[in-house]
Amino acid sequence: MSGDTVSGQMLSSELGVTRAAIWKQVEQLRALGFAIESGRQGYRLTACPDSLMVPVVKRGLHTRWAGQSMVYLPTVDSTNRYARMLAAQGAQQGTLVLADEQTAGRGRRGRVWISPAGEGVFFSLILRPGAHPSQVALLSLQTALAVALAIERVTGLCARIKWPNDIVCEGRKVCGMLLEMDADEQQVHDVVAGVGINVHQKQFAPEIEHSAASLDLLTGRVIERAELVRAFLAAFEETDDLARAGMLMEAYRAKSATLGQRVQVIGQDRFTGTALEVTDSGALVVEDEQGQRHEVLAADVSVRGLMGYV
Ligand code: BTN
Repeated sequence: MSGDTVSGQMLSSELGVTRAAIWKQVEQLRALGFAIESGRQGYRLTACPDSLMVPVVKRGLHTRWAGQSMVYLPTVDSTNRYARMLAAQGAQQGTLVLADEQTAGRGRRGRVWISPAGEGVFFSLILRPGAHPSQVALLSLQTALAVALAIERVTGLCARIKWPNDIVCEGRKVCGMLLEMDADEQQVHDVVAGVGINVHQKQFAPEIEHSAASLDLLTGRVIERAELVRAFLAAFEETDDLARAGMLMEAYRAKSATLGQRVQVIGQDRFTGTALEVTDSGALVVEDEQGQRHEVLAADVSVRGLMGYV
């Protein structure tokens, strides 16, 4: 990973395996897309594929705690389900579960999140906020802010947040989030923040093709998935600092795509109005057509834009 040449002899004595075994592993890495030169001096890694394997993601990661512990799974039913299991076994704050493919990705409101191999970034971050359950709504907005910042930094696109936490670029959804927690009435034991970003998809299912897009389609480039993960982890630590300094909501509102928009609120009853405010506890204030204000919570309603997806 340093780009230096390493001799087969050194690798075999450090790893306690034969040089033939090293050669076999090098061949396997090549088959996965790693470009490895071999010469008289030894082996040299010259390029990495678009992989989410731990050493690839960790290369150039400079966070204090986010992603310091990382698990990569080529395929899993749901990274959220897997991360919740690790959290229940005591995994530390900041542990990241990454997958190349999910066979039963979970979306909001019981929907599925289609997660084809190699196409997107699917991960779950374990958090131990030591907060009251009512404060978890803020963690969801914080995660959205971190993803929006990461997407902007890596792609140069403008990323905005459709309340509570869909990320929208050029009017289309590029990322969804699902936070799940283990809590009792007093305290949150752990939260799993699950994030799915559309990166390489070239097409979407007919029911979402007008509202969804991938970062490759929007930029006309091939976006590196590991870079997005690193940018997210660094941005999450920044947003955590903002939250401690009482500045999170100000930063969130500045990235909101919903504020000022005409929306339809779908909950126990349905109404149309204008999104006026996101409160300090993360609720959306909507003024209906009769001028009455409603404070709605993400857990209770879904909000649809009247002018397109946002
Ligand atoms: C949405 O419906 O918008 C939320 C989608 C969340 C998908 C992500 S992908 C990684 C993590 N694991 C899951 O099973 N779901 C989340």
